[in-house]
Amino acid sequence: MLFKARSAAVYGIDAHIIDVEVDFGQQVEKEIFATVGLPDAAVRESRDRVRSAIKNSGFDIPPTRITINLAPADLKKGGSGFDLPIAIGILGAYGGLSIKDLSDFLLVGELGLDGSLRAVQGMLPIAIAARAAKIKNLIIPAANAREAAVVEGVNVYPVRSLLEVRELLNSTTQGSLFIQPLKVDTSTLLNDAVEYHADFRDVRGQHVAKRALEVAAAGGHNILMIGPPGSGKTMLAKRLPSILAPLRFEEALETTKIHSVAGVHNKDEGLVTHRPFRSPHHTISDAGLIGGGMIPRPGEVSLAHNGLLFLDELPEFPRNVLEVLRQPLEDGNVTISRAAMSLSFPARFMLAAAMNPCPCGYFNDPSRDCMCTPPMIQRYVSKVSGPLLDRIDIHIEVPAVQYKELRSGTASEGSAEIRARVLAARERQHQRFLEHPARAATTTRTAGRAIFANSQMTTQQIRTFCELASDAERLLERAMQQQGLSARAHDRILKVARTIADLEAAPTIAVKHIAEAIQYRTLDRSYWA
Ligand SMILES: Nc1ncnc2c1ncn2[C@@H]1O[C@H](COP(=O)(O)OP(=O)(O)OP(=O)(O)O)[C@@H](O)[C@H]1O
Ligand SMILES: [Mg+2]
Repeated sequence: MLFKARSAAVYGIDAHIIDVEVDFGQQVEKEIFATVGLPDAAVRESRDRVRSAIKNSGFDIPPTRITINLAPADLKKGGSGFDLPIAIGILGAYGGLSIKDLSDFLLVGELGLDGSLRAVQGMLPIAIAARAAKIKNLIIPAANAREAAVVEGVNVYPVRSLLEVRELLNSTTQGSLFIQPLKVDTSTLLNDAVEYHADFRDVRGQHVAKRALEVAAAGGHNILMIGPPGSGKTMLAKRLPSILAPLRFEEALETTKIHSVAGVHNKDEGLVTHRPFRSPHHTISDAGLIGGGMIPRPGEVSLAHNGLLFLDELPEFPRNVLEVLRQPLEDGNVTISRAAMSLSFPARFMLAAAMNPCPCGYFNDPSRDCMCTPPMIQRYVSKVSGPLLDRIDIHIEVPAVQYKELRSGTASEGSAEIRARVLAARERQHQRFLEHPARAATTTRTAGRAIFANSQMTTQQIRTFCELASDAERLLERAMQQQGLSARAHDRILKVARTIADLEAAPTIAVKHIAEAIQYRTLDRSYWA
């Protein structure tokens, strides 16, 4: 007898519906259990778990010839999530279910030998795929349920064991459900006030740095801080999350998908509710940063999608690791090619980096002597390449804080006030992008992507939105020529200037806005000359 159940598998950050067909043949001496349809090792192993789970749930199925087909046949199937649909398919084929048609149900879950259900990774993309395929009901491990329930339009049934799944399926034919679907209110999730333990109020002085960080946060621009040891660079960067605008729902959904696939998502939380802050150590490998593995998995740049990637002690990162950042910094996307498959992950993040100006740390310091020779300094800073530097919009110096400032009694501005200005500027950007959506994206990879911040503008949008007053135009022209700035630097200066104008609610970019934006690009001349 033939029985069909439906399931799904995750590829990259998207899921595909997989049909699980179980053919229950004749009774034989010794059980024959075959899985066809490109299963990987984990799927082939599932037969042992399924067999034990069925037996330990109290079903005594005599040895039979069982064939499992996973369709479509051309997609490679991985992971342990097929345990549940296979087990239900076998029970159905054996006659253990009163319901015969499971086309309206999607089943995913790993089985323990005792028949209990364990969480699997990537449940959010699976729920989204179920909705797209118009499958109304999702039967999944309770531990994954909140994650899937943020998707509206599907009923999520949290279950704990194979027996509960059977009860639930049988109860659907009787009118009263054995388990009720889980509901999650997504609107309150994102608006729940987030408490930050690190506040800008603790930072004394450093007004230039704070201002630059405010601009960076308001437009999502990349920022590099250079300064001597102990000047507060790490301290400042750690406070950056406290002034970022909250995630929009679409952004939260995207980020959660990535975290869900990578298995770093706290499954009780449902959605990732605030912008990720990733600060990998400089011993990270390029695969760890960009993603990789036999079946490619997202790296730090993708985990930081819609959030912040902080690289402290930038020159300590191996150069080859830093160079792989170039593609995602430009496209907001990484493509990983492996023999098995080639996958793309979103990686649109804001980069914050910190470094000392030289090996000893005191080059250019007014109060301490630098012990480094010019070649040493050159070698040190050149670990950060020109092309990488060119992709960083804001370069600032963070000098040692003066004793007077450090001990002064006047309170510094706190994160709440700064965040309020950032939010207002973000709102202005959002309105502008809503009123004039991009007509054509520059590359197919960015096509159709919603834009939330000035840093994400396409070349064409820059032309539309970054209108300059005529004197501002002249200033930019002069700066370009004198400093030998690249075309990319030109575009990035315009984006930053747009953000500075947005912070002031100014409709067009004036001289002072452009001047400030240019000033953020002058530092690399003095160190990377
Ligand atoms: N502007 C400041 N206001 C108050 N405290 C500060 C300030 N700058 C530094 N500190 C104090 O000094 C400590 C060290 O600062 P931090 O680690 O941020 O320095 P850094 O610039 O990252 O140095 P390094 O280059 O060695 O990494 C902070 O934890 C804080 O206690
Ligand atoms: Mg530091």
